[in-house]
Amino acid sequence: MALSKTLTLICRIAAILPVSLAAPASQQTLEDNDDTPLPLVIWHGLGDNFANPGLRDVAALAEAVNPGTLVYTIKLADDANGDRSATFLGNVTEQVAKVCADLAAHPILSTAPAIDALGFSQGGQFLRAYVQRCNNPPVRSLVTFGAQHNGIVDFRSCGATDWVCKGAMALLRGNTWSSFVQGRLVPAQYYRSPNVDEYQKYLEHSNFLADINNERVLKNQTYVENLAKLENFVMYMFEDDTTVIPKESAWFEEVNGTEITPLRARKMYREDWIGLRELDRKGGLKFRTTPGEHMQIDEKVLKEVFQEYYGTWKKGSAERYARLDGDDL
Ligand SMILES: *[C@@H]1O[C@H](CO)[C@@H](O)[C@H](O)[C@H]1NC(C)=O
Ligand SMILES: *[C@@H]1O[C@H](CO)[C@@H](O)[C@H](O)[C@H]1NC(C)=O
Ligand SMILES: *[C@@H]1O[C@H](CO)[C@@H](O)[C@H](O)[C@H]1NC(C)=O
Repeated sequence: MALSKTLTLICRIAAILPVSLAAPASQQTLEDNDDTPLPLVIWHGLGDNFANPGLRDVAALAEAVNPGTLVYTIKLADDANGDRSATFLGNVTEQVAKVCADLAAHPILSTAPAIDALGFSQGGQFLRAYVQRCNNPPVRSLVTFGAQHNGIVDFRSCGATDWVCKGAMALLRGNTWSSFVQGRLVPAQYYRSPNVDEYQKYLEHSNFLADINNERVLKNQTYVENLAKLENFVMYMFEDDTTVIPKESAWFEEVNGTEITPLRARKMYREDWIGLRELDRKGGLKFRTTPGEHMQIDEKVLKEVFQEYYGTWKKGSAERYARLDGDDL
């Protein structure tokens, strides 16, 4: 889950970056330069914490690609241990609400015209929840890596001596649908099984995912409107992900036994339960893959993401208008 494996590579690249970026920067017009990049908000994954040097390297890379970017790493506690523990334990509804309050009260973020967002693993679906429920300040581009947008049926994530993680997983397997577990154990709140009996229990008891995916009879229209307002929603799936089961959850695919139903063939898309179809029709929904195991992100991929989707406000708007022109032809 954590970013540690990518750390060395990212460090190396961050050191090289200023050189490799010199050329494109000098080609920028004055117009591009007089805008500050939009702030970038990052939500890390299970077992990670805001102080992880790997995350700081990601932030440094974002600043190197788009100089002047304010990077804000979401934290649910002021100390690293508490923040890590909150990735396993807590009520996700309350966690998202706290993040909403923190961002809305932040002196710089709250005055930005918009922010960009980067979610790693479970941080991906949690940032999506931020967009659907609050979106104040509003998100322009949401990029998620290996998120569990359609839930998990299993998690193979615990290190051999990671007792917090192992304890949490044992609890998850024991009594997933009790309100005790749903109110306290983070991964249980996006556990979802297509097995008929389990799916009914999920609809009844899921504290997070069934709500945020608008799977219940009453659909929350605010969710639809907010998500469809994104300019880009870029979903990366790790090709060799064996941690998130099923990995296709990163693309909202329904995996039922051997059968895989792509998002566009699903009812949640056809009836547009959360605004994904509308977003897709305006060209904002992107399905991407990247090689490797869960959270092994090549710094080259991150750099491309930062160049393509983040940066100045004008840059994004200009590209949007260019796209509209193209459509008109
Ligand atoms: C829909 O979601 C919004 C944002 O979270 C919330 O304020 C509102 O109460 C919800 N509406 C219903 C009917 O649950
Ligand atoms: C999670 O927190 C929300 C808000 O405080 C609360 O309404 C809900 O009942 C809690 N969920 C569980 C399963 O305890
Ligand atoms: C999964 O497949 C089974 C067997 O075909 C079916 O009964 C069930 O409804 C499916 N689950 C979902 C969530 O589509």
